[in-house]
Amino acid sequence: MVKFSYYGHSAFLLDDGNYRVLADPFLTGNPKASIKPEKVKCDYVLVTHAHGDHLGNAPEIAYNTGAAIISTPEVIAEAESIGRLECFPMNLGGSINLPFGRVRMTLAQHSAGVPGGTACGFVVNIGGLNIYYAGDTALFSDMQLIGRRDKLDVAVLPIGDNYTMGPEDAAQAAEWLGARYVIPVHYNTWPVIAKDVQEFKALTEKVTQAKVLVVEPGGELELD
Ligand code: NI
Ligand code: MN
Repeated sequence: MVKFSYYGHSAFLLDDGNYRVLADPFLTGNPKASIKPEKVKCDYVLVTHAHGDHLGNAPEIAYNTGAAIISTPEVIAEAESIGRLECFPMNLGGSINLPFGRVRMTLAQHSAGVPGGTACGFVVNIGGLNIYYAGDTALFSDMQLIGRRDKLDVAVLPIGDNYTMGPEDAAQAAEWLGARYVIPVHYNTWPVIAKDVQEFKALTEKVTQAKVLVVEPGGELELD
């Protein structure tokens, strides 16, 4: 069992009861943020790329809590402008074993927000579940390989369009990934990414076997 807590935009926490894994904690300046950065308790922080709406408060949270940042070397260098942090530098296609399970860094088709870098996604094995977090990305056909490599229980996908794939492409992604559950993120934070999430849910549940779980900022769900 894993508790999923949504903090707004693309920020969320996975908690297996022993370890807490935070993702893309953009809280300060996030109009949908449901928690203050100083209230976040976590052991690891996944950062998909260095855009402000993803790297966000990760450096200060890691600095203040001792949580380890998991990201690419270029993003870690950016994060460490605050001071030395505990870090796990990775790159695309690599996996690491951590006390709660395995983390695999996957491709994403997006800019990095830092010179020479690359955006990424993650497959996180925690609490017996494989949870794919796409980060910011366009639809790309190699998503099929992600679903083939790890049998996915959950896919956390951006649906806001403009900066990432929109609802139609995210529904196609859901079909290719084959996850049992899809959790939409990266929408309704600002007018430019305003989307009708119920339309996305209806479309995705029509074209895939997946169940779409809509979580409001500040909401939680238990996944198993
Ligand atoms: Ni971005
Ligand atoms: Mn973004």
